[in-house]
Amino acid sequence: MQKALGSRVHLDDATNKYAVEFNSYVSDLMELDEVKSLDNYEQHFRTSRLQHSINVAYYSYRIGNVIGANPRSSARAGMLHDLFHYDWHTDETPEPHAFYHPKVALENAKSLVDLSAHEEDAILKHMWPLYWGIPKYKESIAVTLADKYCAAMEVCYQWGTFFANKVQNIFAFNGSN
Ligand SMILES: [Fe+2]
Ligand SMILES: [Fe+2]
Repeated sequence: MQKALGSRVHLDDATNKYAVEFNSYVSDLMELDEVKSLDNYEQHFRTSRLQHSINVAYYSYRIGNVIGANPRSSARAGMLHDLFHYDWHTDETPEPHAFYHPKVALENAKSLVDLSAHEEDAILKHMWPLYWGIPKYKESIAVTLADKYCAAMEVCYQWGTFFANKVQNIFAFNGSN
């Protein structure tokens, strides 16, 4: 499994208690083709939807631990919160994407695995306040906080890397053609 962006924990590290516990909660989801195929879509600037989902799942799990939410439900809802398969940058949707995709993700997730009421609420309301209805459970709060943190981090990290590479290329230019 990949690393969550910004985390020092390698999710394959069998000696790390967070990695081991997190994997025990989401490894079955990671095997699903519908989840794997999220790697084909860009979610935020240069970050795939699969990487974003792993990021949100991991930080939801960690936040869930801190605020007393169920860590398994937090991680699983985080992994499934953006389970939709269209390009939100270009594809038309019946409603604005921000309001539409949580409903699609929830329906897709329900068609694949059993979800608790807490997990359903967390997926449906992860865009809060861009969604009618306040997050009802601690797991929902964990996911909506993790999603916002990850979105900001991904954009900053990737833009930073992008510009650092550009600057590096400028200074590496030796003047020859
Ligand atoms: Fe989303
Ligand atoms: Fe998201």
